[in-house]
Amino acid sequence: MRIAIINGPNLNLLGVRERDIYGDRRFEDYLDTLKHQYAGKAELHYYQSNVEGFIIDELHRIGFDYDGIVLNAGAYTHTSLAIADAIRSITAPVIEVHISNVHKREEIRHHSMISSACSGVIAGFGLDSYRLAVEAILAANAK
Ligand code: DQA
Repeated sequence: MRIAIINGPNLNLLGVRERDIYGDRRFEDYLDTLKHQYAGKAELHYYQSNVEGFIIDELHRIGFDYDGIVLNAGAYTHTSLAIADAIRSITAPVIEVHISNVHKREEIRHHSMISSACSGVIAGFGLDSYRLAVEAILAANAK
């Protein structure tokens, strides 16, 4: 089972940026734990970019081969029709993920451009949102 995690803009600064919202753990550290936890069950590939077009390129590159994609598009969630189109263009199911509960935050974060192109949405569970998305992909593939 091959699962990709894609993080969008500013998520390279997890553990450093707005720690009251996103926590104090670096993503690379969390990813090590996750890889360990799923060893033998799923191969986890990780990509991060602050650039919208690079995220789209990565979706195109892996989107026909992987069993599932966990996507935290960061602020592009709320703005990017191009990422929504990219998700619709590929065959791998994409799960939209957010660390924070975007619905509890500023109104501008309540709307997602990409939700309607995704298989599901997980938000508000801190970094555990990523694990829940991996679980959802594994469960869907076990059916
Ligand atoms: C985020 C929520 C977005 O609104 C924000 O722009 C982010 C992170 C989250 O994981 O909670 O960068 O996607």
